Amino acid sequence: MSIAIRQIHPVFMGEVSDIDIARPLSPDQVKAIEAGMDRYAVLVFRDQKITDEQQMAFSLNFGALENARGGNITKPEDRRLAVGMNDVSNLGRDGRPLDRESRVHLFNLGNLLWHSDSSFRAVPAKYSLLSARVVHLTGGNTEYADMRAAYDALDAGTKAEIEDLVCEHSLMYSRGSLGMLDFTDEERTMFRPVRQRLVRTHPVTGRKSLYLASHAGAIVGMTMPEARILLRDLTEHATQPRFVYTHAWRQWDLVMWDNRQVMHRGRRYDQSQPRDMRRTTVAGDAPTVAQVVT
Ligand SMILES: [Fe+2]
Repeated sequence: MSIAIRQIHPVFMGEVSDIDIARPLSPDQVKAIEAGMDRYAVLVFRDQKITDEQQMAFSLNFGALENARGGNITKPEDRRLAVGMNDVSNLGRDGRPLDRESRVHLFNLGNLLWHSDSSFRAVPAKYSLLSARVVHLTGGNTEYADMRAAYDALDAGTKAEIEDLVCEHSLMYSRGSLGMLDFTDEERTMFRPVRQRLVRTHPVTGRKSLYLASHAGAIVGMTMPEARILLRDLTEHATQPRFVYTHAWRQWDLVMWDNRQVMHRGRRYDQSQPRDMRRTTVAGDAPTVAQVVT
């Protein structure tokens, strides 16, 4: 049976039906999903009751899984999930909500800022796939912003101004904007800024998009205040309601997005209640710009 995709927002977002992602996919199904990702940038799959192994197997249809090393401050011995799974829950290894003042919890709050997953890596992520295992009745929505539509809506002068700009991304910039500045020397090395183009071109469709994230904290050749004002202006532009879709999670939803074409952010929720969301990440295949070795 071929899959069906229905657009659920004026500029992007597809909802996929007639598929069970717990089962192996046919080459035609993989192709249809990839084409859907190129077109809609985010796909929603409802009622997909999957295990971690099935989520990883589904993700591998679209490329290798990203190595999560260097993406957080959780120590290996405190990890709750197997290698290959990114823990986007508020839970500790004991399955209980993290202490409100724990450093890992504070670090994880950075997910509530607009971002593109792994833009702080020299080779940033391609797709992210987030599976809802335990959800809240209120709060905890995820919002997505279409960075292609946002780019298209810029005036010609701004497009020309930003065309060749290169930003520096680091987890220290996004966390620093929340007042979290106490990084160890080891973390400072791990979170060393990387360079990313501000305007990306999609390798299949050729569409341009803004490559923004709260991880971006500087622009090469520009003073920091000027860079940050420009990044704030562009982010404000790109996250206007007309470019944004809000996903209200139901248990066993899986949402798959293209980090090259959208930004996203979580919304606040009651941290005293368990919320279990699990992500797999499909690695990108190249840097967006040459890196400078320091
Ligand atoms: Fe994220």
